[in-house]
Amino acid sequence: MLILLQDINNSGDGGIYAELIQNRAFQYSQNYSVSTDHYFSVNGAALSIQMLDEPLSKQLPASMRVSVGNGSYNTGKIGFKNEGYWGMDVRVQTYTGSFWVKGAYDGVFTASLESNLTSDVFGSVEVPSKSVADDWTEHTFELVPERDAPNSNNTFSITFDSAAASALDFNLISLFPPTYKNRKNGLRIDIAEALADMNPKVLRFPGGNMLEGLRNDSYWDWKDSLGPLRYRPGFQGVWGYQQTHGLGLMEYLEWSEDMGLEIVLGVWAGLALDGGVTPQEDLQPFIEDALNEIEFVCGPANSTWGARRAELGHPEPFELNYVEVGNEDWLAGFPGGWESYRAYRFPLFYNAISKAYPNIQVIASAASSDPGGEPPLYGPNNVNGQVLPLDALGDYHPYREPDELVYEFNRFDNDAGHIVGEVAATHVNGGIRWEGDLYPYPWWIGAVGEAVSLIGYERNSDRIPATFYAPVLKNNNRFQWPITLLQYDADPKRTTKAVTWYCWSLFAHHPISHTLPTHSNSSYGPLYWGAGYDENRNGAKVWKGAVYNTTNSADVPVSVQFQGVAPGTMANLTVLTNSVGDPYMYNDPFTGINIVNTTYTLLTAGSDGAFHFSMPELSVAVLDTEVSSAGNSTGHYRRRI
Ligand code: AHR
Repeated sequence: MLILLQDINNSGDGGIYAELIQNRAFQYSQNYSVSTDHYFSVNGAALSIQMLDEPLSKQLPASMRVSVGNGSYNTGKIGFKNEGYWGMDVRVQTYTGSFWVKGAYDGVFTASLESNLTSDVFGSVEVPSKSVADDWTEHTFELVPERDAPNSNNTFSITFDSAAASALDFNLISLFPPTYKNRKNGLRIDIAEALADMNPKVLRFPGGNMLEGLRNDSYWDWKDSLGPLRYRPGFQGVWGYQQTHGLGLMEYLEWSEDMGLEIVLGVWAGLALDGGVTPQEDLQPFIEDALNEIEFVCGPANSTWGARRAELGHPEPFELNYVEVGNEDWLAGFPGGWESYRAYRFPLFYNAISKAYPNIQVIASAASSDPGGEPPLYGPNNVNGQVLPLDALGDYHPYREPDELVYEFNRFDNDAGHIVGEVAATHVNGGIRWEGDLYPYPWWIGAVGEAVSLIGYERNSDRIPATFYAPVLKNNNRFQWPITLLQYDADPKRTTKAVTWYCWSLFAHHPISHTLPTHSNSSYGPLYWGAGYDENRNGAKVWKGAVYNTTNSADVPVSVQFQGVAPGTMANLTVLTNSVGDPYMYNDPFTGINIVNTTYTLLTAGSDGAFHFSMPELSVAVLDTEVSSAGNSTGHYRRRI
């Protein structure tokens, strides 16, 4: 069970990246203009963007001037407040902050967390000024509120004495709550823990479309995302907002390390979302750039880019076994993008990476059935599909109606190896698919459809080593893609696990290392199943099943017999059902009600050696002979995919 993370739906900035200040460094790009958005004046101060001759850095050329306004208030404390990513969670805990100032000021700054609704100030701290006229100076502080705020409608403010300085320039204003595993510049704890609780094993990053960029001159350049925040220019996001680059390559790698995740690293392959293709004669620098990126991740500390990683605090190479060349190269700029990928872009990247890193598994960004059209193609497309070198994998992205996912149960029974780099039930059955909107949240029948497809992929896991849900996160205040595993806003109390989270998590908590051949008296449908054993858990036997579309919604009787499992052996049966009946229901963050009903039953193999039980219509189940696995909710089974 694996996750794709790119910054979509404010899943990075304003999501898993824990920074609380929105627009902290006034970053901008061709598509997103510079502004003081998300800042508000305190006591009539005038806020304006300045492009100073001496900016904080070449990468951060814009800053915000805070000066005595024209209004009536021109003495005492003035300043600004920031609304965060649509609010801020304020609790009695240590917040770590910093800001840079230019301008002579002999006094103190006051940094406060306060209500946006009332005059309540939950905590503040005085930060002595080090600020001088002709240089930028960093100020750091810790702020521990005296009490919790009753809601997340809060702001962060900085004020200074206008009698001592009538105008000061500010930049890189940052505030972090405690982070996942205490990483500096780290992850938001509740979101990271909700993902970790699924027992994921692989992280695919940085996209997705984000990797591709809007144009050839603005793809996600990993080098821009390294080092001190002061030197990160930000990224022209592809999902409607400017990004900070705070969640950079090192942060993704540390995240993988902290959750024990295998990495699938996407490298840019010369195609942008506007269809711009890099001609063959210009491609070599990008191939070298990808090799440098790989060296940064897994090269020894005495290699050029390994040394850069060591300089950033991680001399030990990260383990890197999978590199994907591009993203969905069959889609943007079709047919030119696709033709160039097949003709020279993929072969040149593939050859260079395989030669330099023979142990790395190279993945193409398309499947044997791409370019997928309408209706989707279900099997190898020997005319137009990806032609894979023998030892490369493809990548399949089925965003489908649940019926289609079920129909594709045997999609990979006779095909080359692939990852399923993105999959989700996105549209209801029989609808108008991409002509219409995605469903507002993952819904129950969609989750069961996904479960059927997961079983289909897992029973082919010799060739389908990894399946990724995508996209995984959504900030309810600004999003483009509603179907996600987790929804959240500034208030962690509203962080909501979608119904799909429960199905994927159940399967991920019962891993198998080897599939087992299965025999049955009946064919697949309405019951779909697969079985295996896990050598990492003393050979525990596992059966996974999902029931989809029974006649008259009748229960399905199930008997599971494992070869070598004697009568009297015990197994734990976990069954997920929908407690409200309506297959279109979902977990709504605004009600907080979880509609997924989970039951655990200890079963004993009968005299025939079989486990007997029944499954209701639209249910998902796992039978596991490691009985201590019952109710297991945190990951402890780890292995390479
Ligand atoms: O997951 C959302 C988007 O869908 C991905 O960025 C892209 O690869 C796919 O088209």
